[in-house]
Amino acid sequence: MVLLRLPEAHDVATMALGCQDPEVARWTNLPSPYTEHDARSWAQKVNNPVHWWDEPTWVIADTENRWCGSVHLESEQEGAARVRFLVAPELRGRGIATRAVRLACRWGFSSLRLNVITWRALIGNEAARSVAQQAGFSVHNQIMRRGLAHRGKLMDCWFADLIPDDLVDAHSGQVWSGPQLTRREREVLHAMAAGLSNREIADSLGISENTVKNHVRSILEKLPAKSRMEAVVKGVQEGITRLT
Ligand SMILES: CC(C)(COP(=O)(O)OP(=O)(O)OC[C@H]1O[C@@H](n2cnc3c(N)ncnc32)[C@H](O)[C@@H]1OP(=O)(O)O)[C@@H](O)C(=O)NCCC(=O)NCCS
Repeated sequence: MVLLRLPEAHDVATMALGCQDPEVARWTNLPSPYTEHDARSWAQKVNNPVHWWDEPTWVIADTENRWCGSVHLESEQEGAARVRFLVAPELRGRGIATRAVRLACRWGFSSLRLNVITWRALIGNEAARSVAQQAGFSVHNQIMRRGLAHRGKLMDCWFADLIPDDLVDAHSGQVWSGPQLTRREREVLHAMAAGLSNREIADSLGISENTVKNHVRSILEKLPAKSRMEAVVKGVQEGITRLT
């Protein structure tokens, strides 16, 4: 079983070590050499409650909550995202990436209402190709020329796509996704956490005060919360926002 969750402070050292693997440098765009500073910056970026939704990213953890790798869905055009993933070298070959990709894709189809998830990898990345195939992606036989940016150069790549009906059953796992607030509701909640009034929120987002009130009402219903204060507290507890 794998768990997809947000990065935690104890992941930094393990992640830095895992990402120093030469195969990670060979097949991904992660900094090389990879340092603890890189891991910490990544964790901070991922833990941003508003921007997380632009590019949902998870740590893959095992049942003992140890860092095993990461998976993320990078936005493409409307309704589409591209999946990327990596697993710690000592944990490969146990089906961890396959399970994590299935879970992330299922979540993307249901929570983000994606229509298609794509995958691209440099030619020769057999392990990644096998993960895509086992997760249900249609891996095309052709090569996409100059289809993948790798370390500043456009490279030929393998490519594949997955639509909801293709998804091989995602079993035994959990995905953190928090309450289902829309992007606008998350922005409003974030502004509430910063102590802004409805008028100030309306001005900062360029919308009317009435629209802000509607968003606040919807946020209170979804969390659920009885007051703005309780909504902010719950938002912080759920990791959707933070006090600034
Ligand atoms: C790709 C990667 C995430 C796979 O992680 P994993 O947890 O080992 O993946 P899984 O165990 O779910 O599946 C790997 C499959 O690839 C197969 N495989 C591994 N190396 C292979 C190789 N060199 N040639 C062919 N198949 C290979 C495994 O046998 C396994 O298939 P099986 O289940 O039929 O035995 C991992 O190798 C990795 O992190 N690589 C570096 C980063 C990377 O390439 N990321 C992908 C970018 S798109």
